[in-house]
Amino acid sequence: MPEACILGIETSCDETAAAVVRAGEHVLSNVVSSQIATHQPYGGVVPELASREHLRAIVPVVRQALVEAGQTYESIDAIAVTQGPGLAGALLVGISFAKALSFALNKPLIAVNHLEGHIHAVLLEEKQKGNFELAFPVLSLVVSGGHTHLFLAEEREHGWKYENIGRTRDDAAGEAFDKVAKLLGLPYPGGPIIDALSRHGDPRAVRFGPAQIKHRNRGTPGDRQTPYDFSFSGIKTAVLRYVETEHLRESIAARQKALASVQKPQAADVLRLCDTKTLNLIASFQRSVVDDLVSKTLHAARERDARMLFVTGGVAANSQLRATFEREAGKEGLPVMFPSRKLSTDNAAMIAAAAWPKYQSAQFAGADFSAEASLALR
Ligand code: KG4
Ligand code: ZN
Repeated sequence: MPEACILGIETSCDETAAAVVRAGEHVLSNVVSSQIATHQPYGGVVPELASREHLRAIVPVVRQALVEAGQTYESIDAIAVTQGPGLAGALLVGISFAKALSFALNKPLIAVNHLEGHIHAVLLEEKQKGNFELAFPVLSLVVSGGHTHLFLAEEREHGWKYENIGRTRDDAAGEAFDKVAKLLGLPYPGGPIIDALSRHGDPRAVRFGPAQIKHRNRGTPGDRQTPYDFSFSGIKTAVLRYVETEHLRESIAARQKALASVQKPQAADVLRLCDTKTLNLIASFQRSVVDDLVSKTLHAARERDARMLFVTGGVAANSQLRATFEREAGKEGLPVMFPSRKLSTDNAAMIAAAAWPKYQSAQFAGADFSAEASLALR
């Protein structure tokens, strides 16, 4: 049992990923095949294309993960796979493959919630650093292209128990980065490029009022609102309005045209094509999103007496988000932890790590389990 190796498989969105993790903390391999080039022309993930690309990649990616780990199909002890949340068709590719492996090899199958995976990415690396001392409750901000959630976690005998105390009412934060990037003629995915370009702009140049980033009560019956809910669709509209009033359309079209002929545009290529006004807009947008994520999370941490803070998911790779959390949480003496950039975005090591407590307590999935696009974390 202490040396058990779990093969993790992740196909919930646009990365086909497989990894082998020993004892929930030793990453023997972590292979990620990205579909960025496929979705780039559309400025966002196209579900049908994602499923097709997963089908193409799943066998070689799993094989590579086993080879790099020095393992074989026969030597691994269990197979873990993302059950949801995510794109149903994409999830099904990973799940069908994992089920087939489990059946053919007669090895246990473990179903993992993608969001718990992101939380375990932090835990995994803290364990690697020798930090086993966790203080509960742990507040986790999971912030990515598909999700923006606040989970308050307590430790139970067989793993963690979660309370979802905040969520986005509309777009996820990463989605806002991607949509604003598309609007401004920047490459996909928007997060990394906005992160890089923001360093060259004045984050206080454009003022986005609190109304643009505050969630509005949509009045859905039975829909519980919390003071820690997020909303990122208003700021996208505010950016669009700014583009119109400041007559930026022409320069956006010129940038799109220039970038269309660049294979893999780097930050320096894009920077050359941005004027000061655009850079200021980008920096101000990022600052508003970051300030909102940080202030609501710290508000929740204070009110719910969180003892530790985890910030994870693709947007956790954002340098300003990291710096602001470190500074602001530091002022309150609240320890804040992030995964390394490689483990911030989607990967399968986090899935294999999240499966470890389930493996130890024999929480195995039956052959009848299926993909759940809106799977909740409890
Ligand atoms: O976790 P992830 O790989 O996939 C989902 O589960 O959604 O997150 C991808 C998202 C994209 O929206 C991308 O733009 C964003 O994470 N992202 C970033 C950064 N790197 C990736 N957002 C802001 N700053 C970054 N440095
Ligand atoms: Zn994710």
